[in-house]
Amino acid sequence: EIMVALIVAVAAAVSVYIFIYYNFLKGVKCKSDVSLNGRTVIVTGANTGIGKETALDMARRGARVVLACRSKDRAEAAVLDIRRKTSNNQVVFMHLDLASLKSVRAFAETFLKSEPQLHILINNAGKRCVKLGKTEDGFSMGVGVNHFGHFLLTNLLLERLKQCVPSRVVVLASETYRMVGLDFSKLSRTEPGHTNGFLDYAHSKLCNVLFARELSNRLEGTNVTCYSVHPGVVNTEVFRHLNRWLMLILVPVAALLFRDPEGGAQTSIHCAVQEGIERFSGRYFSDCRVREVVAHARDDAVARKLWEFSERMVGLSNKAIHPVMLLDSFLFVYKEEKSSRKIDGNRVIMQRFVSVKFSPLG
Ligand SMILES: NC(=O)c1ccc[n+]([C@@H]2O[C@H](COP(=O)([O-])OP(=O)(O)OC[C@H]3O[C@@H](n4cnc5c(N)ncnc54)[C@H](OP(=O)(O)O)[C@@H]3O)[C@@H](O)[C@H]2O)c1
Repeated sequence: EIMVALIVAVAAAVSVYIFIYYNFLKGVKCKSDVSLNGRTVIVTGANTGIGKETALDMARRGARVVLACRSKDRAEAAVLDIRRKTSNNQVVFMHLDLASLKSVRAFAETFLKSEPQLHILINNAGKRCVKLGKTEDGFSMGVGVNHFGHFLLTNLLLERLKQCVPSRVVVLASETYRMVGLDFSKLSRTEPGHTNGFLDYAHSKLCNVLFARELSNRLEGTNVTCYSVHPGVVNTEVFRHLNRWLMLILVPVAALLFRDPEGGAQTSIHCAVQEGIERFSGRYFSDCRVREVVAHARDDAVARKLWEFSERMVGLSNKAIHPVMLLDSFLFVYKEEKSSRKIDGNRVIMQRFVSVKFSPLG
């Protein structure tokens, strides 16, 4: 009798779990079966997780897919896997390290020279750090990779997107955007930024939401549209930087309760291909539906200010340089030279400062 009761209890628990998983955790599937034959798509960070599943879907639809990744080995393995699963040999790797503005520029140059078209840009790559580091250009890692790298990339590819309308930009954000307000001092190169990796990540995700909003405002009437996305809580490598103890708890929880990467890719795919969502350009999506964002993430004045700030930070703006930015740049170069003991007089610092601030890399 005990055995029977046990079997019934286990069967009931499994049924409840399956019900909850398929109704609440797995998420909604993109319904569009649109073909992407003749279309070109870039997916950043496409060697694993949500990005790889998104690239796989784009390849299944017949697109030419560029996997923009920093690790050649990991990306080439993903290319082979996607080609094998889809029989689409128009899947290629191009090197992109979003932690380096120089690499972003090199990627854009190579892409624009070799690829005549771009219809869909998916800014998927994301960095979530426990140990905070700095990018090559001095930004805190999360903000530098997730926001500034993608900001520059999108701007450099914008003309090509405009030539290939209708075209789209999809920006991977996250619900964590709610947890912080925008703090310009933490976006600067000279201040330490958020000293907590989670807050740095959340801050970058708020930038992603505001960036999509302002981009869409700037693109009004062009037929290039733009969407930010929360993919759900997804079982990927995004948590790989957590410490061993946290991982010990997280791994079984994630296996049971998190979405799989294929489920996590659905809203990105929806925003990339679903017909009829153009009127929602600039908005935030999750579970393939448009969602309202909290007040501080839909402030157009703040979104515009972030855009202008970012233009200066990545060296895109030709406008007069604000004295605060000038000081920021000077301090950045000064600290860097000092820490690498390269200081041999103010002349060297001034020379580097001038080359950093006024070169296109800025
Ligand atoms: N998983 C979730 O629950 C969740 C929730 C909300 C939002 N998101 C967002 O969804 C997106 C995809 O996340 P995921 O869960 O699929 O994460 P993931 O499995 O960790 O994949 C992240 C991808 O970004 C790449 N990347 C990291 N730093 C890079 C850099 N400097 N340059 C170029 N590529 C870089 C990684 O490359 P390497 O393999 O070389 O490191 C990897 O391909 C991210 O933007 C993330 O913030 C995820």
